[in-house]
Amino acid sequence: MNVFLDALNGLPTDYTPIWLMRQAGRYQPEYREIRSRVSFVELCKTPELAAEVTVNAVKDIGADAGIIFADILLILEPLGIGFEFSKGDGPSIPTPVRTAAQIDAVADEIDAAASLHFVMEAIRRTRAEMETPLIGFAGSPFTLASYAIEGGGSKNYYEAKKMMSGDPGAFAALMDKFARAVAGYLNAQIDAGAQAVQLFDSWVGCLSPSDYRTHVMPAMKTLFAALGNRVPVIHFGTGNPELYPLMKEAGGDVIGVDWRIDLSQAYRRLGDDTRLMGNLDPAYLLGPREAMFAQADRILDEAAGHAGHIFNLGHGVMPEAKVATARALVDHVHEASARRR
Ligand code: CP3
Repeated sequence: MNVFLDALNGLPTDYTPIWLMRQAGRYQPEYREIRSRVSFVELCKTPELAAEVTVNAVKDIGADAGIIFADILLILEPLGIGFEFSKGDGPSIPTPVRTAAQIDAVADEIDAAASLHFVMEAIRRTRAEMETPLIGFAGSPFTLASYAIEGGGSKNYYEAKKMMSGDPGAFAALMDKFARAVAGYLNAQIDAGAQAVQLFDSWVGCLSPSDYRTHVMPAMKTLFAALGNRVPVIHFGTGNPELYPLMKEAGGDVIGVDWRIDLSQAYRRLGDDTRLMGNLDPAYLLGPREAMFAQADRILDEAAGHAGHIFNLGHGVMPEAKVATARALVDHVHEASARRR
C-alpha cells in the first residue's frame, strides 16, 4: 500500500520509511521567510500556512510521512491555561497551575473540533494537497502537566514533582483532565484525516520508573483506551530508556525511542516483535556526512529482521541543521535499507 503505513502496521516493506521529528522548522529557509512575516502562533492558527509548511517539509527532504504543523501547547488555550511564545526563550505559562483551585478551574471537557478548528482545517488542507501520509499529534499528559505546573521549560521539574508527592490526588486529577482532552483532540484530528497520531512525552524522562507507573501510567491507559484502534499510535518519549518497557505497557502501536539506548538493546528489552521508531542522535546532522551515514547504517543493521522499523531522529531537527544534510540522510536510509532487503 504505502511504505510508511505498512511499517506502522508491522508489515514488511521494500525499504525503511523515514521522517524527522520537527522536519518543519527554522532550519528551512522557506520556514524562516514565512516566520519573518507571521508569529509562530499565528502560523499555527492559519490553516493555509500550516498546510504549506507541512507539505514543504516533506518535499524538502523527501520524507515518507508528514506531521501536521502545530504545537503541543495549543490545547492549553481551550483548557483555560494561557501560554505565550516570546522571542528567543521558548514557551511560557504566565499563570502556572499549582493549587487545587487552579486545577479545578482547568476545563473538564473541550470540544477540540471547534476550539482547535484551525488544526483540523490544516489537516484537511494538507490531505488534499499531499499524497504522503499525514501524522497528527499531541503532547502526553505528563509533558503538558509539567508545562502547566512549571510555567514553562524546566531543568529539574521540582514544582511538578512537589505536586506529585505533596498532593497526588490533585496531580492525578490534572493528569486525567489532560488525558481526556488529548484523546478528544487526537480523535478530532483522526476525524479530519490524520492517518496516524503521535504522542510526544518529551519531558517524561525526568521520572523514575516507579513514579511513571504510579503517576503517569493510569492517565496514559485512559488516553489509549479513549483512542481505540482507529489509526496506529506512535508513543514517543525521551530522556530515560528505563521507561520504554513501561511506555509499551501503557500503550501504543509503535514506540518512539531516543538515542540513549541502542536499537538492538531496545528490541531485547521490549521484545523482537515491537515496532520501533528511531533513533539517530540529531547532533549527527551537524557533523560530517560520513559519520552520520555510518550511524544510520548501524541503526539499520540493528533493526534488520524487525518488521515495522520506522527511521527517525531520537528527537527533533535543530535550527542549526542544513536541509541538504537532512535530505542526504533520507536518501541514504532509503538506499541503504533497500540494499539490505
Ligand atoms: O515538523 C514538526 O515536527 C511539526 C511541528 C511541531 C512543532 N512543535 C513546531 C514548533 C511539533 C511536532 C512540535 C511538538 C512540540 N512542541 C514538542 C514535542 C517535541 C519535542 O521537541 O520534544 C514540544 C516540547 C513543544 C513545545 C515547544 N514549541 C517548545 C519547547 C518550543 C520552543 C523551542 C524551539 O524549538 O524554539 C516550541 C516552538 C516551536 N514548535 C517551533 C516549531 C517549528 C519553533 C518556533 C519558531 O518558529 O520560532
